Amino acid sequence: MGQAPAPMDEHPERRPLDGRHIALGVCGSIAAFKAADLCSKLRQAGAEVEVVMTPAATQFVTPLTFQSLSGRDVVVDMFTAAEPEAHVEVARRADALVIAPATADCLANLAHGQTPDMVTLTALATAAPVLVAPAMDNQMWEHAATQSNVAALRERGIIFAGPVSGRLASGRAGAGRMAEVPAIVGALRAMLGSHDGDLRGRHVVVSAGGTNEPIDPVRYVGNHSTGKMGFAIAEAARDRGARVTIVTGPVALETPAGIERVDVKTVAEMLAALEVATSRSDAVIMAAAPADFRPDVPAGQKIKKQPGQERLALELVLNPDIIATLPGGGVRVGFAAETENLAEYARRKLTSKRLHFIVANDVTAAGSGFGTETNEVVILHDDGRVEELPLQSKYAVGHAILDRVAARLG
Ligand code: CTP
Repeated sequence: MGQAPAPMDEHPERRPLDGRHIALGVCGSIAAFKAADLCSKLRQAGAEVEVVMTPAATQFVTPLTFQSLSGRDVVVDMFTAAEPEAHVEVARRADALVIAPATADCLANLAHGQTPDMVTLTALATAAPVLVAPAMDNQMWEHAATQSNVAALRERGIIFAGPVSGRLASGRAGAGRMAEVPAIVGALRAMLGSHDGDLRGRHVVVSAGGTNEPIDPVRYVGNHSTGKMGFAIAEAARDRGARVTIVTGPVALETPAGIERVDVKTVAEMLAALEVATSRSDAVIMAAAPADFRPDVPAGQKIKKQPGQERLALELVLNPDIIATLPGGGVRVGFAAETENLAEYARRKLTSKRLHFIVANDVTAAGSGFGTETNEVVILHDDGRVEELPLQSKYAVGHAILDRVAARLG
C-alpha cells in the first residue's frame, strides 16, 4: 500500500478566496486579536487583504501586526495615509469589506452613515458587500439601540456573522462574543458567492452521510460513510451563491456557515426530509450512503444475550430507494460507490434512478472512498458521455459536479 496522495485543494481554480481583494476593518475591542488570525487565514486562502483600523483598535493590536500579516500598509488616519484619498481607494479596490470586530459604536455609525474613522469611511465609500462580526458585552448587544441598528443594517443588506454566546471579556456569559475565524471566513465565502456566484438564486439540495437503522434502542445497522463528500459539495455550492440545504445522516462534521442543515437518522427520515427539501429545488445531489436494508422490526428493549446463545439472526427488509422515489428535484445527480464493474453498475443506476448524471467511484481505490479528503471519479451522463476526472480534493470534485449542474441549468 502506497502513501495516500496529498490533497489537491490548493488548486487555484478551486480556492474561493484566491485573488479576492478583501478590506478588513478592525475596531476597538479585545476581540481585535482574533482579527490578526483572520487576516492571516484570508492571506493563506489566497486573498489580498488591506486593513483599516479605528484609533481605538490600535490600543489593542498595533498596525504593525496587521501590516506584517497583510503585507500592505495599514490605514488608521486618512490624513496621514501614504495614498491620497485612501478611504475611497481602499473601498474601490475591495471585493468585500469585513468588519471584525465590529463594536456597538461601529454598528451605530454604520446604521446612521456616520464616518468618524477609516472603518466607517470605507464602509460608506464602498459598493462591495459588507460583512460584520460584532463583538461587545451582552448588555450592549441586547440593548434596544444596538438591536435597532442591527435591524437597519440587515435591512440594508449588511451580512452578520455572529455574535455567538459564550464567555465575554467582562467575565459574564452571554451573546456578544465575536464569531470564530472559520465561521467568519465561511460567511465571507457565502456572501461573495451570493454576490457574483454562478449559482446565486438557485436552491441546491445535497444529501450526506450514512444512515443508522435501529436494531434495538442501543444498536443500529450503519456504514462507513463520513459525510465528507456531501459536505464538500454543499460548501462548493454555497461558495457559488446557491441556497444550500444539506440533509445528513449522523456525521461528526460541523455545519459550514450559511448552509441549512437537516439531521436525520434513518432512510425513512432522509426520504421524508428530502421530499420537503426538493419540492422546489434546482438540483438534488445524492451523496449519502443510505442503508439498503433495515432490521424488519426494531426490538423495543435492548436485546439481551441468552445463556448459551451463540448466534443472533437479524431479519433485514429492503429500504426504499430515496432518489428513485423522489419525483423531481431539478437536476438529479447520484453517486455510485462500487468495488468492481464500475461503469456497468453505474450506468444501470443512472437509468433506474432517472438521473441526469452519476458520479461513480471505486471505493477501494487509493485516495478515494470513505473518510478520505480526496476522490477520483468517473461521471456518466444520460446522453452517453463519460468523463474521467483526476484524483482531486472532495471540494474540487464538488465544483466539478456543480460545473455540470450549472451547465444543465443554463
Ligand atoms: N440511494 C438512495 N436510496 C437508497 C440507496 C441508495 O437514494 N436506499 C442513492 C445513493 O445516495 C446514490 C445512489 O442511490 O446516489 C447509488 O447508491 P449505491 O449505494 O451506489 O447503490 P445502490 O442503489 O444502493 O445499489 P447497490 O447497493 O446494489 O450497489
